[in-house]
Amino acid sequence: MDMLGSLLLAGSRSPLARRAVSGLPVTRKVVDRFVAGETTADAVEATRRLTAAGLAVTIDHLGEEVRDAATARAAAKAYVSLLDALAPLGLGRRAEVSVKLSAVGQRLDEAMALEHARQICAAARDCGSTVTLDMEDHTTVDSTLEVLRALREDFPETGVAIQAYLFRSEADCRDLAGSRVRLVKGAYREPASVAYQSKGEVDRAYVRCLRVLMAGTGYPMVATHDDRLIAIAELLADRHDRDRDAYEFQMLYGIRTDKQLALAEAGSRVRVYVPYGDDWYGYFMRRLAERPANVAFFLRALRGK
Ligand code: FDA
Repeated sequence: MDMLGSLLLAGSRSPLARRAVSGLPVTRKVVDRFVAGETTADAVEATRRLTAAGLAVTIDHLGEEVRDAATARAAAKAYVSLLDALAPLGLGRRAEVSVKLSAVGQRLDEAMALEHARQICAAARDCGSTVTLDMEDHTTVDSTLEVLRALREDFPETGVAIQAYLFRSEADCRDLAGSRVRLVKGAYREPASVAYQSKGEVDRAYVRCLRVLMAGTGYPMVATHDDRLIAIAELLADRHDRDRDAYEFQMLYGIRTDKQLALAEAGSRVRVYVPYGDDWYGYFMRRLAERPANVAFFLRALRGK
């Protein structure tokens, strides 16, 4: 990761930077490129629009690292209300939700996060939908996989994100045989003791994990905007006789929309990760950190151009 990226990721966890960036008048305009809006109605509207264009969605109610039980409870409630609002659309698995366990209490008490996640899984099942657990920084991986294991006893359709940059992830992919697994490169600033640091190493690790998932019995969700990795995923799916409905591609809302549509038009399943809500700061800063061009876009908006 370059210096700017590291700085932005450090900023994503700094309360001072949060106040400074959130207070800028143009921030909202730039945030709108990556976030579908603040309310449940905004998320439902984005879902209508994207599914009408032939894409599936996974919706994230923004929030993370919650430090009090009431906020964690409110986050779980927000997901249940969202799923209730999606039910009449009859989209089933074409509209699922992504959950960060730290938003529903993981930092306070793993059992509380599990209970909240169960409520969300039950509401998802009621409308024929599913839940995928996002993966956060490496200190949370064991806990997240433990919660996943418990959830899958009652809701085996629950999926999880695995981050290729962590040394442990190839083994985790093997352990998750039979599961829905979203493979990502990884978006947090991790130490060299646990994670690959260079793009080349991360990309190679991604391919190794992809090989395990495509050869396995689960449902791989190939979450990347990287053309080379998308092409490799297609080759591996072919090699393992996977039909187009036996895996899917995933990309983020507002990023490479043209590619999302092109893949869907060519017959692939494509799911867009749609974040909504007012707690957009951490998510937004990670997106800036991924790409200097996004920072340039932000700076241009600041200068009013
Ligand atoms: P890479 O960053 O190498 O980018 C490849 C190309 O994609 C770039 O050259 C550029 O063209 C385009 N691109 C990538 N990022 C862009 C951006 N921000 N703006 C504009 N263009 C961009 N991470 C995590 O740690 N836990 C998680 O649970 C998830 N969940 C998740 C879900 C989904 C659906 C996606 C797509 C991603 C995640 N991530 C994630 C984020 C992931 O770890 C990673 O940080 C980003 O996807 C960027 O990596 P790429 O694979 O796209 O490759």
